Amino acid sequence: MLLLNLDHVAVAVRVLDEALALFSRLYGVSPSSREVIEADGVEEAMILVGGSQVQLLAPRHPDSPVARFLARHGEGLHHIAFAVPDLDAALAHLASEGAELIDREPRRGGGDNRIAFVHPRACAGVLTELVEVR
Ligand code: CO
Repeated sequence: MLLLNLDHVAVAVRVLDEALALFSRLYGVSPSSREVIEADGVEEAMILVGGSQVQLLAPRHPDSPVARFLARHGEGLHHIAFAVPDLDAALAHLASEGAELIDREPRRGGGDNRIAFVHPRACAGVLTELVEVR
């Protein structure tokens, strides 16, 4: 299984505009994209940092998984995402290794990319997203 690079590190935040203002003030960065993902109940912004990205995730409503994460943990690191060249092959490999998958099949994520999430129990307690980049 080949990982191309670290695609993004995702941070859960309560209010996206406030978090973007903070990142702008502290690091002088601005978002390269901003998108509502209704299926996940989030609004996300991507900040390009070198060859990788920081993804800021804010809940759209109190029932979204990110809202539940914020209620339990507060703001902070939510997941990491690896870019992979072949998501189907990556998922097949992980399944063959007995890794617990949240998404057994690829689905559409931000930027209309094919993505899948791997359960934190599968690897060192870290929620991991795979993003297919072709
Ligand atoms: Co992500």
